[in-house]
Amino acid sequence: MSGAPVAVTVIPGDGIGPEVVEAARYVLEAAGVPFAWETVPAGATAIDAVGEPLPPATVDSIRRTGLALKGPVTTPVGRGFRSVNVGLRLALDLFAGVRPVRSLPGVNSRYEGVDLVIVRENTEDLYVGNERQLPDGSAEAVKLITPGASERIVDYAFQLARREGRRKVTAGHKANILKLTDGLFLEVARTVAARYPDIEFEDSIIDALCLRLVQRPEDYNVIVLPNLYGDILSDLAAGLVGGLGVVPGANFGRAAVFEAVHGSAPDIAGRGVANPVAMMLSGAMLLRHIGETTAAGRLETAIRRVLAGGRVRTPDLGGTAGTWQVAEAVAREVSA
Ligand code: NAI
Ligand code: MG
Repeated sequence: MSGAPVAVTVIPGDGIGPEVVEAARYVLEAAGVPFAWETVPAGATAIDAVGEPLPPATVDSIRRTGLALKGPVTTPVGRGFRSVNVGLRLALDLFAGVRPVRSLPGVNSRYEGVDLVIVRENTEDLYVGNERQLPDGSAEAVKLITPGASERIVDYAFQLARREGRRKVTAGHKANILKLTDGLFLEVARTVAARYPDIEFEDSIIDALCLRLVQRPEDYNVIVLPNLYGDILSDLAAGLVGGLGVVPGANFGRAAVFEAVHGSAPDIAGRGVANPVAMMLSGAMLLRHIGETTAAGRLETAIRRVLAGGRVRTPDLGGTAGTWQVAEAVAREVSA
């Protein structure tokens, strides 16, 4: 419990974003840390409000506060504006995407004892969408991998492993085929790993890693990946612990932006049934990031207790509760 309120930029976002962000804000306040929220638009909502998907004022707000609680934004497939998420990551150099994937009590899944962290490079690789059309009607995309960005992300993964007392870092790649690009990522990873003799290092070809992840997820601890593989494996890993509704995330760089792995879920938006747990756990990551570890622990415990109770769960977890019922149950538990 501290004195001055902590300024946090809030981006409600699109689809289920406003619903789950509101729920997360509610339980963060219940955790007893005073916040000064600064709500700004981004995404389709921002286009309607101010005519552009990522207004400069939104980026400025995050620069000022250094912290954002962000809902998902809708990105049209194929055409339309550039991804707001990619734009934000580049504007604030949010180079590290961190997704802790943990088994939770009371959540039906095929696995138990999963406790891994995906560390995703956020600024380069195919994912930045550097594509062009060719005169013959084909199209191509540029996969750029740099030594600097590779070193920075692998080092981040090892630092995280040390900080959290994790024993092993696995680097995923396809260096057998993409010898120059993924080959560089792997070479840098090995060099960085040599600086951390206290932490085990292994590398894995990305397809084999997918196989082993669904066979023995408990073997993994910290997985560091280039951008596109990191995107794909984040969703795969979410599937190991009950789905997108329960996996939090954060992006770190010149600011820290906390957001769930899931998207705006247009199929269930506006119905009050979205699972707020992923966004709430992202909020707990925010608390931990600002040094409010006790409050973070209490919020996580409250979420686990509510899930373990089995009565207040959203439909994606097999329950019948709405977003707000979950928020109220967690808030009651955290302030109890
Ligand atoms: P999605 O994550 O929005 O939805 C996939 C499936 O999971 C849907 O059936 C959805 O109902 C369900 N789901 C997701 N979150 C849930 C929650 N909290 N509670 C219950 N069910 C949940 O992925 P999709 O459909 O591929 O993308 C929708 C839009 O979101 C797209 O425009 C995409 O670009 C955007 N997106 C944005 C992200 C962000 O802003 N960080 C991340 C991922 C996607
Ligand atoms: Mg994704």
